[in-house]
Amino acid sequence: MTKANWNYPTAIKFGPGRIAELPEALKAAGISRPLLVTDSGLAGLPVTQNTLKLLKDAGIPVGLFADVKPNPISANVEAGIKVLREGGHDGVIAFGGGSGLDVGKVIAFMAGQTRPMWDFEDIGDWWTRADPAGIFPIVAVPTTAGTGSEVGRAGVITDETTHTKKVIFHPLMMPKVVIADPELTVGMPKFITVGTGMDALAHCLEAYCAPGYHPLADGIAVEGIRLVFENLPKVYADPLDVEARGHLMSAAAMGATAFQKGLGAIHALSHPVGALYDTHHGMTNAVFMPYVLAVNRVAVEAKLARLSAYLGLAPTYEAFLHAVIALRLRLDVPHTLAEFKVDGSKRELIGDMAIVDPTAGGNPVELTKDRALEIFDRAMEGRV
Ligand SMILES: [Fe+2]
Repeated sequence: MTKANWNYPTAIKFGPGRIAELPEALKAAGISRPLLVTDSGLAGLPVTQNTLKLLKDAGIPVGLFADVKPNPISANVEAGIKVLREGGHDGVIAFGGGSGLDVGKVIAFMAGQTRPMWDFEDIGDWWTRADPAGIFPIVAVPTTAGTGSEVGRAGVITDETTHTKKVIFHPLMMPKVVIADPELTVGMPKFITVGTGMDALAHCLEAYCAPGYHPLADGIAVEGIRLVFENLPKVYADPLDVEARGHLMSAAAMGATAFQKGLGAIHALSHPVGALYDTHHGMTNAVFMPYVLAVNRVAVEAKLARLSAYLGLAPTYEAFLHAVIALRLRLDVPHTLAEFKVDGSKRELIGDMAIVDPTAGGNPVELTKDRALEIFDRAMEGRV
């Protein structure tokens, strides 16, 4: 039988109001002088300010670093390391959506390293170059339900010299404790709620469809898919539905837990489109989803029929495809890239970038340039 490596050990404190337990979580992680890292957009919002106040009221000397762009660059990490070292901090609270969580994790990882960051890109065993003693502990607090980076062991940083996203990986970049408090997601704009929720769905779906023997991932992915289908429309209709938001937060963590198995063409196409047109990551995934299912059909038909049965649909591939299209319609996701203000002028470049994207290898049919362009063309025309 196939040999495999499975890694699922994150400690998560889940539920409304659990942010109040952040002081104990820091103590459990061995952090007494935390640096809270988040993005510049989030820094001034009540969700961040209330968290800082909570820590100050508990007598914890907390610093704030928020010089982080939505698609974080290496300069953001370098600036954060400087603040961490000069402030005498001994750990990081990675706080926010994908950018705050990823930069926070990478700053903690780089805190005591002597080699440059790109030496630790997720290639082969490059992570073994790191000094484990120089990695500071991390407590992660997601404020969106999508990326799932709180349960991951990597951070995505853009190399501003090549305009490509690179993955920095180390097993000890996994947060010691996660506080998953759905109340923190309540203030999100609707567009972000939908985009991040569809990102979680894309993570679960692509992990489930990726080839390879990983029954833990498959089991987690199908339940994550069910949670998004049932709860994203509820939150869209009523943004104050904290219970439904909780289920989305679970689905986000489940998606990122499952996708160590692999991702696929949705992400491989979404990454270049996002890099070239600055579109929202999760929303771009949502646009590509049905077109990728159509092109992957031969390889995923039986799997998706089984998934449909689990979701209470007719046990067929078509039933799942139609459910995805209906969900997008209900959430006002654009049906075509054209509606998303993407034009065809960079078609060739997008094809070239998609096939070398780190996620392309997880697609259930080989993502050749022809196939990538076929998906792109369908997404431009709205031809499922
Ligand atoms: Fe994603």
